[in-house]
Amino acid sequence: MYFDTHAHYDSSKFKDDRDEVLRAVYAAGVTLVVDPGDTVERSKNAVALAQNYDHVYAAVGVHPEEYETWTDAAIEELCDLAKAPKVVAIGEIGLDYYWDKEHVELQKSMLRAQLELALELDLPVIIHDREAHGDCLSIVSEYPDLRGVFHCFSGSAEMAKELIKRGWYLGFDGPITYKNAVKALEVIRICPHDRMLLETDSPYLSPVPNRGKRNDSRNLPYIAEIIARETGMTVEEVAALTMENGKRLFRIGVNT
Ligand code: NI
Repeated sequence: MYFDTHAHYDSSKFKDDRDEVLRAVYAAGVTLVVDPGDTVERSKNAVALAQNYDHVYAAVGVHPEEYETWTDAAIEELCDLAKAPKVVAIGEIGLDYYWDKEHVELQKSMLRAQLELALELDLPVIIHDREAHGDCLSIVSEYPDLRGVFHCFSGSAEMAKELIKRGWYLGFDGPITYKNAVKALEVIRICPHDRMLLETDSPYLSPVPNRGKRNDSRNLPYIAEIIARETGMTVEEVAALTMENGKRLFRIGVNT
């Protein structure tokens, strides 16, 4: 059984067959999914999905690329949404200097505001860090009590060690199956087994051999295979371990 800790089933890319895909994903053995919102509106959709499907949990947040949707009311709206049942994290939040370098200060202030919300609500966070490794590391380090995952981790082994020391988890996605994945494989080899998470980032980032097609959680075994190969574990061990890690970080099934 698998836990996909990052999949955007609220995306319009699933508008025609969302129900069918979510049922098929469960039938294929993906028994837990976290769906992170990337705007306030899509966070509402993620919360609604979590209410409609037993195997889906939600995170709420505003993604750095969505800075245009950020308003003064955003934190209050996210705070209300975060109190709904089955909301397990604040995310997807972070910094993205690949898509946008003109709004760095706005991105940073959105990130800090949402990290503070997570602390206030005692929730973990889901961090998007694209070409912003130094700033992401230094900002999360301002909040030593905060925990979470660096989703689709793309930093160096050195940065991975820093995050692990501070109690963070690392998420591995389709790109680890690509031919040019060198740094990511090094990170997998040094990552403690209790800090790894499996993610798809569906509908994006399909792993080989489905690269280029719409992604869904049924592709998780391709990602698990690479982790198994690099760590000497079996695919079943990777699935079980990342299930346990995800439940621990997102506090699913703990004290219930
Ligand atoms: Ni994502």
